[in-house]
Amino acid sequence: MSKKMMFALRAGAVVAASMVTVLAAQAGEVEVLHWWTSGGEAKAAKSLQATLQAKGHSWKDFAVAGGGGDSAMTVLKSRVVSGNAPAAAQIKGPSLQEWAQEGVLADMSDVAATNQWDKLLPTVVGNIMKYKGKYVAVPVNVHRVNWLWANPEAFKKAGAKVPTNWDEFFAAAEKLKAAGIIPVAHGGQNWQDFTTFEAVALGVGGTEFYKKALVQLDQATLKSETMTKVLTTFKRVKSYTDKNAPGRDWNLATAMVIRGEAGMQLMGDWAKGEFISAGKKPGVDFVCTAAPGTAKAFTFNIDSFALFKLKNEANVKAQKDLAAAVMSPEFQEVFNLNKGSIPVRLGQNMDKFDDCAKQSSKDFVETAKTNTLVPSIAHGMAVSSAAEGAIKDAVSNFWNSDRMTVAQAMDKIAAAARTK
Ligand code: BGC
Repeated sequence: MSKKMMFALRAGAVVAASMVTVLAAQAGEVEVLHWWTSGGEAKAAKSLQATLQAKGHSWKDFAVAGGGGDSAMTVLKSRVVSGNAPAAAQIKGPSLQEWAQEGVLADMSDVAATNQWDKLLPTVVGNIMKYKGKYVAVPVNVHRVNWLWANPEAFKKAGAKVPTNWDEFFAAAEKLKAAGIIPVAHGGQNWQDFTTFEAVALGVGGTEFYKKALVQLDQATLKSETMTKVLTTFKRVKSYTDKNAPGRDWNLATAMVIRGEAGMQLMGDWAKGEFISAGKKPGVDFVCTAAPGTAKAFTFNIDSFALFKLKNEANVKAQKDLAAAVMSPEFQEVFNLNKGSIPVRLGQNMDKFDDCAKQSSKDFVETAKTNTLVPSIAHGMAVSSAAEGAIKDAVSNFWNSDRMTVAQAMDKIAAAARTK
């Protein structure tokens, strides 16, 4: 080897070594609590991990299985109480305010200002992420909850039409049943029951009823004629689910639709992540359509990461890098393509997204204008966590009971809505 080459090699080694030192000096660890453990969800979570690692930081996975996140929230509480909060945790809606009031969330104003979050986020969304005017969380996506997923093969076999209202829904369910197909794939947690319940409330009662009853928790509306209709329709859906639904995870219910064992599922668009991850094509292997009677409304569920106060400087740097990366157009695209949701960042290019996502994106904007964009209770976007838990339990008790009458259910739900 020539002297010149030796010199060049040595110089290269010195540069490389000093780069490693720089990276090591800045590298931190980010522990992230989430509940994204199903096929599609895990792919989306991996894209977040890769984004962070590309910045030289290390990722400590804190996944707590359980759709809807109830188990994750229980684990989070005990970690924070013991003074050992993760850097970021999947927390949403009004719960963000509850956590911020405890004084445990970090101020991300500098990251938000540098990256212009105020300009890039719809005002409604920005406000959810702020506590006393300061960003304490970063949004990841917008999920639409009021979807119906259908297997076109199963519908063809049954001679049924994908429903657009509740009468058509029950007509299709009868036909699927007659063809030996489970009409409705359903699972067994209270948030799954409530996902169906809020779709029925929106479809049968309309957006004004939905807002008064389930967002403002107005007692008279919760005990109205319309509520009777909603509860009766909701319970009727149950007769088209199978006996093994109790205890079943939502993604296993989606898998039944993917296989054609079941005809349809009422579920948010994280279900699309499962179809996609199983290699299925929208419009060909599966159909996405608004839940019956809700085409002109949009029930939103925005995933976000609350950022906790940390002591270690390198970890604070890593946490801020994570917050900035989550809002970048590159991350918004790759994450949401896997997750089934749409980007939360305004003006994002949707070319790579499928028709379900494009529809969702269009409807998100439209319904915001017509005031028919409503928060999902089932997914923690509408009311306090205490009221949400109590109402969910009341609705599930009714779903699971063979004896409770509609009138009794109505009283229980109205009483639960008073929980502070
Ligand atoms: C979350 C989604 C998640 C779903 C099922 C929802 O509450 O917002 O991100 O995929 O629960 O676990």
